[in-house]
Amino acid sequence: MSRIETIMRTSPVIPVIVAEGSLNPQAIAEAFVRGGLRVLEVTLRTPQALDWIRAMSKVEGAIVGAGTVLNGNQLRAAVDAGSQFIVSPGLTDKLGHAAIEAAVPFLPGVASAADIMRGLDMGLDRFKFFPAETSGGRPALKALSGPFGDIRFCPTGGITLDSAPDWLAMEPVLCVGGSWLLKKDDTDLAVIEERARAAAALQTS
Ligand code: 3PG
Repeated sequence: MSRIETIMRTSPVIPVIVAEGSLNPQAIAEAFVRGGLRVLEVTLRTPQALDWIRAMSKVEGAIVGAGTVLNGNQLRAAVDAGSQFIVSPGLTDKLGHAAIEAAVPFLPGVASAADIMRGLDMGLDRFKFFPAETSGGRPALKALSGPFGDIRFCPTGGITLDSAPDWLAMEPVLCVGGSWLLKKDDTDLAVIEERARAAAALQTS
């Protein structure tokens, strides 16, 4: 099994984390791990993101990666900060080759057959289906999976605790991603832990 597949199979849900708000990132990561979600994606959308990756990586059991990685420079900075995997909203040749060169598990975003074929050309076969709901939702993923039998996905974008089970019941889906697990104005770690526990209890196909 590839390293990215192992990460995708660790938990049914990957929290998509925006590094902002008043809570301490290490404490947030501890709450997620206590709740049963070990794989954490910190998006490079705020100036604190790399610091949060460094802080969260100190938490035992946490597997911390970087999301919203758009180019090779960001990828290398994320790896230097301790990212154990890289997620991107889309796939370019330059970014794909930077990930291969860095030998870091990589989950690029795809939303079309052409995107998937570009990934296959680079030897990639595990993808984020993004933005999942607005790219046609589950019917689109089912249709896209037809010609690409062995490809597996982490749908992300518009998925909630309520809709996640329908996605996770699909054979090509190994996990889903979502930002519902951490909100900007969260102040209570117990609430985050409880959200994580509910997500961790979801069944995969
Ligand atoms: C992402 O970057 O993966 C998405 O913004 C997460 O989508 P969501 O906020 O709809 O969960």
